[in-house]
Amino acid sequence: MWRDELIKFAAAFKHPAWGFSHFKRVNNLTLDLAKSQQIKIDEDAIFAAAYLHDIGAFHPYKKKGRNHSEVAMEQCDDILQRIGFPSEKIFKVKDIIRTHMFNINPSENVESILFHDADTLDFMGTIGITRLLAIVGKEDWTPDLKSAIKLIQKFYDDLPSKIITTEAKKICEKRKSEMEYFLKDLSQQTDNFNLL
Ligand SMILES: [Fe+2]
Ligand SMILES: [Fe+2]
Repeated sequence: MWRDELIKFAAAFKHPAWGFSHFKRVNNLTLDLAKSQQIKIDEDAIFAAAYLHDIGAFHPYKKKGRNHSEVAMEQCDDILQRIGFPSEKIFKVKDIIRTHMFNINPSENVESILFHDADTLDFMGTIGITRLLAIVGKEDWTPDLKSAIKLIQKFYDDLPSKIITTEAKKICEKRKSEMEYFLKDLSQQTDNFNLL
């Protein structure tokens, strides 16, 4: 079954912020968002996109100076055909992958909109904080702890406006308050972040 093959393939992408467990969370959250809003979606396309959307950030696919979404979109044809994914659905997977990031608008497809909400929410709240702190000193986004805290603040400020669907907005409010508490407490305990 293509799902088992895809899981086997994706399990190799280990990373504390955008690896296998992130793929799973985005799949699960997208399905939850669809269910709670009674929106019919193609679960096959979501599953495939969830386990492939960030592979462009990993060796051997990562290309210097190229957007990881575009790279993943280009690679997914071969991978999906090899494992026997229904070929008539590949265009949907590509659309979801192409527009998954918070810094671009999703296409009009409902799968792409919900997936974009789920991927954005994973940068928020306790999980968003955890992911960013896990890559301090390891990725360009977060060269040191102070820059990671600044990025958490930036995501708190910027990401809520990127969320589109009603249920995702509710989750976003909860995650915003988690970030607010974290930043407030950390500021108090570190002399306004000076003692980080
Ligand atoms: Fe991504
Ligand atoms: Fe992602």
